[in-house]
Amino acid sequence: MPIQPSDFKYISDFIKSAAGIVLAPGKEYLVENRLSMLAHTLKIESIDELIKKLRKENSNDLKQKVVDALTTNETSFFRDKHPFETLKTSLLPQIIKKRAAIKQLNIWCAASSSGQEPYTIAMVLNQIPALSGWRINFIASDISEEMLERCRQGLYTQLEIGRGLPANLLPKYFSRHQNRWQIKQELRTMIDFRIFNLCKQWPFMVNMDIIFLRHVLVYFNDATKREILGKVRKQLKPDGFLFVGSGDNPELLDKNFTRTEFSTSACYKITSP
Ligand SMILES: C[S@@+](CC[C@H](N)C(=O)[O-])C[C@H]1O[C@@H](n2cnc3c(N)ncnc32)[C@H](O)[C@@H]1O
Repeated sequence: MPIQPSDFKYISDFIKSAAGIVLAPGKEYLVENRLSMLAHTLKIESIDELIKKLRKENSNDLKQKVVDALTTNETSFFRDKHPFETLKTSLLPQIIKKRAAIKQLNIWCAASSSGQEPYTIAMVLNQIPALSGWRINFIASDISEEMLERCRQGLYTQLEIGRGLPANLLPKYFSRHQNRWQIKQELRTMIDFRIFNLCKQWPFMVNMDIIFLRHVLVYFNDATKREILGKVRKQLKPDGFLFVGSGDNPELLDKNFTRTEFSTSACYKITSP
C-alpha cells in the first residue's frame, strides 16, 4: 500500500534528524520497500501500523531498526580498486617512513557497512611486511547495529566474495563456514568495530593517519557534509590522508582540504596554513 504523504514527511524528518540522511520527495518507493520488509520481519501488519508505533512509542530499539532499514549498505571488497592500490603503493610507504620512530598507525573506516571495506584495508595492511611489529589502531564504524553485527561476524556469501575479492586472497584470508566464507580471526581481531553516528557529537578517538569516508557523504545535504568534513579535519593528523567516494569533492565544500593526486587515485590532505 502506498505510503501516506504525511507519513512520508514524518519518516523523512525522522531519518534526517536521526542520521542526517536526506530523503527527498520521489523516494517514497524506497521508504515503502524498506519499511514493508521491516514490518514483515517484526510481524507488524502494515507500514501504516509500523509508523503509528514509531510515532507513539518512544522505543530506541524500534528507532534503531528503522534507521537500519533506511540506510543504504551497498559495498564490496576492493570497491573502486584504486584507493587500495594508492594505500598500498604510495600512502603506507610514506607513513611507514614518517612514523618509523613510533611505529604506530591510526586508521579509521567511518562507514563500514557490512565490513567489506575495513576487511579490504586489513588485507592490504597484512600484506605489508614493513608493518610487522607496528601498533595498528584500526577503528571501523557505522550507524547501523545490524551492519556492525555483520562486520563482527565477518561472514560472506559466495556472491559477496565474487564481488571484488581477488581469487588468491580467498584461501589466504577466509575459511569455509557452512555455505558461507568467514574472514580469518587474525584479521577480525585487528579491527575495533564501533557504533558511530557521523551527524552527532563524536566521541574521543586518537588522531588518525588515514580516514576512509567513502560513499556516505552522498546521503547528506551540503550543510551536513560541511559539518562532518570540519570534524574530519580535527580528527586527522596534520599530515593525514582522507579517502572519499568517487563522486565526492571535499575541497568544493571546505577550502581546508586539498586534493592530492597519486598515480592510481586521489585523496585529500589538510591544506597547509
Ligand atoms: C553505501 S554504504 C558505504 C560503505 C563503504 N564505505 C563503501 O564505500 O563501500 C554507506 C554506509 O554509511 C552508513 N551511514 C549512513 N548514515 C550514517 C551516519 N549518519 N553515521 C554513520 N554511518 C552512516 C550506512 O549505514 C551504510 O552502511
